[in-house]
Amino acid sequence: MTAELIRNPLREWQRRIWAHAVIDDTTPSHDELSREADRAERAAIHARQAANRAIAYTRRRPSRYANASYELLLPEQDPAGKVSRWRAHGPRALLIAGPARTGKTTAAYAIANDTHAHDQWVMVWTAPDLSAALKPDGEPFAYDYATGCDLLVLDDLGRERVTDWWLEQLQRILDERCAQERRLVVTCNTTGPDEGDDRSPAEVAYAQLVTRYGHPIVERLIDGGGVLVLDGPAVRQVVTEW
Ligand SMILES: Nc1ncnc2c1ncn2[C@@H]1O[C@H](COP(=O)(O)OP(=O)(O)OP(=O)(O)O)[C@@H](O)[C@H]1O
Ligand SMILES: [Mg+2]
Repeated sequence: MTAELIRNPLREWQRRIWAHAVIDDTTPSHDELSREADRAERAAIHARQAANRAIAYTRRRPSRYANASYELLLPEQDPAGKVSRWRAHGPRALLIAGPARTGKTTAAYAIANDTHAHDQWVMVWTAPDLSAALKPDGEPFAYDYATGCDLLVLDDLGRERVTDWWLEQLQRILDERCAQERRLVVTCNTTGPDEGDDRSPAEVAYAQLVTRYGHPIVERLIDGGGVLVLDGPAVRQVVTEW
C-alpha cells in the first residue's frame, strides 16, 4: 500500500522525463514549466488551506451539534423546508429567531454541517465569542475569517453586549459579506407577540431586533430573505434516571 502510494506520484514524472529525453517542438519551454509548477503549487496551497479550514470547523464545533442534520429536525424546526432547502435554494441570508430552546442552533448547525460536507468554508461564532475574537487580544484573523468564509453562522445574536464598537464591527462585517454576496445564517432569541398583539411572530421578532440593532443592521441581516421564526415547543431532554 505504502509502496503504491509512493510509486503513483512518481510514475507521472517518469513518463515526463522519458517524454522529454530528446528535445523537440513538443518540449515545454522553461517559462511553461515554471508556470505549470506555480499552478501546481497554488493548487497544493489551496488544498492544504481547505483541509485546515475543514479540520478547524469540526474541532470548534460543539459535540452536541456534531450530528445536527435536516433529518433530525422536527417538522416545526424546518417549516416549509425553509431550513433544509436554504443552502441550495434560499436567499443569501437567513435569520432564525424564536424563544429559548426551540432548536435554532440545531437548525443552524444542520445547515452548517451540510455546507461543510459540500466542501465549503464554514465559520461559526456565537455573537459574544465573535465580539471577543475581534478584540486586539482576541483571535488574530477573526475579521478576515468572518468576512471571507463561504458561510458565516452567527449564533445567539443578542447575548453579547451591544456597544457602539460592536455595532460598528457588525456593520463592517455584514457590509463586506453583502458586497461579496457571501452567505449568512444568524440565530437570535426573540419572544412571541403578547396577548392582544395581532402582529405575526416574524413582525414582532423583526421589531425586537430593530430596537436592539437599528434598521441598517437588521436589513443587512435579512437582506432579501425574511425572519424564520421557530416557535414550536421547547426541546428539553429531562433525565429522570441516572
Ligand atoms: N430535533 C431535535 N432532536 C434532538 N434534540 C434536539 C432537537 N432539536 C434540539 N435538540 C436539543 O435540544 C436542545 C436545545 O436545542 P438548541 O440549542 O438548538 O435550541 P436553541 O433554540 O438554540 O436554544 P437557545 O435559545 O438556548 O439558544 C439542545 O440540547 C439540542 O441538542
Ligand atoms: Mg442556541
